[in-house]
Amino acid sequence: MGDLEERDRRYVWHPFTQMSDWMDSQPVVIERGEGNYLIDTEGNRYLDGISSMWVNLHGHDHPKLRRAIHEQLDRIAHSTLLGLASVPSIEVAERLVRLAPEGLTRCFFSDNGSTAMEVAIKLAFQYWQQRGDPDSVRRTRFVALRDAYHGDTLGAVSLGGVTSFHDSFRPLTFATLRAENSYCYRCPYGLEHPACDLHCLESLEGILAKHGDEVAAVVVEPVMQAPAGMIPFPEGWLRRARSLCDEAGTLLITDEVATGFGRTGRMFACEHEGVTPDLMALAKGMTAGFLPLAATLVTEELFEAFLGPVQAGRQFFHGHSYTGNALACAATLANLEIFEEERVLERVARTGEYLGERLEALESLPSVGNIRRRGLMAGVELVRDRDTKARFDAADRIAHLVCSAMRRRGVILRPLGDTVVVMPPLSVSEAEIDHLTGALAECIAEVTGA
Ligand SMILES: Cc1ncc(COP(=O)(O)O)c(C=O)c1O
Repeated sequence: MGDLEERDRRYVWHPFTQMSDWMDSQPVVIERGEGNYLIDTEGNRYLDGISSMWVNLHGHDHPKLRRAIHEQLDRIAHSTLLGLASVPSIEVAERLVRLAPEGLTRCFFSDNGSTAMEVAIKLAFQYWQQRGDPDSVRRTRFVALRDAYHGDTLGAVSLGGVTSFHDSFRPLTFATLRAENSYCYRCPYGLEHPACDLHCLESLEGILAKHGDEVAAVVVEPVMQAPAGMIPFPEGWLRRARSLCDEAGTLLITDEVATGFGRTGRMFACEHEGVTPDLMALAKGMTAGFLPLAATLVTEELFEAFLGPVQAGRQFFHGHSYTGNALACAATLANLEIFEEERVLERVARTGEYLGERLEALESLPSVGNIRRRGLMAGVELVRDRDTKARFDAADRIAHLVCSAMRRRGVILRPLGDTVVVMPPLSVSEAEIDHLTGALAECIAEVTGA
């Protein structure tokens, strides 16, 4: 084992990782990036099939992004947004408001998806506390969905519904009302879309009927619950959820941390259903995967509830040291220009379809239970028995084994439970999709013995 691997094992504590396992493993140490490839210290090349945890959009060395960051660095790397404004943050806020669904008019910056959601939770809460009508102060509760994931800070964990990630922290978190999601492949009602007429939404409807006047906001990941294992919402779900929020007079928060910036084929996933949320969280692809930056966009009505004399204390008491970082904002501006100049969304429409066709070929493998895709985000759920949809034993770590086998074929993927996530950069080529899906077929067959 090389010196770097040894020092990694000795000093670095990796996220979401059993370190006993890690310390027995042979870590791959990434040194460089070239296009959609990661290159390790031994010179091995890996196709970045998960966009470095869903952040990278245009490859690792896009010249426009590199230039924009260098040019910004020649001016200034960072200055605070507390008491000062900065050139690139103004430009980013304006561009985002123009791009976002109509009605979102203000931009609050933070640094990552969890903080963008933390900001959304606190803004929604404080909005009702100071809106001025006496009943609204009762709106202190949040509705989130089964299997929800909104980040790892405690507010976001309170919304979270993934047993293995969240349950051990419950004593530290606030209680959330939990509505059904739309895991059509394993529909708990035994129904099929579209004949079901979105029966699963009756759960949200029931919660709002009972608790509607206590609810500050309903929180959803629009179009695809990605960290839950790529669970897409059926057509019409988000639109109807928006109407239910309106009827209950509550806010809708959409978490576009994973789905935003072209992932689903539209700039923002809400656009698929013509929905404007009251608050929208953005992160991950915001800088095309070059630097940490996040934003929470809100409506004018929400913003106005925070206005008043300083002494009234209605301001939003929240902010991070690196909020609106200038280098990261420069990357976002370059990112948005790349979307226009390279007609990225048109390309994603084509490559997304192509990925879908190539993934369909996996259906011939008996352990492939369900393939789910929106744009360039996809999941392949593996099952022990396709007819009964019986799962593998968790201890088998079947999707993990497939991802390990993929690594030996030069592709980096990561599992979520028994689902293999496929989420390459938006710049992925058809040849790279061929390589990825071909290797995936071989690895699933090899690992499952079929
Ligand atoms: C939907 C969603 N929300 C929030 C987060 C948290 O983002 P971050 O890891 O940047 O804190 C993630 C991260 O995977 C996510 O997928």
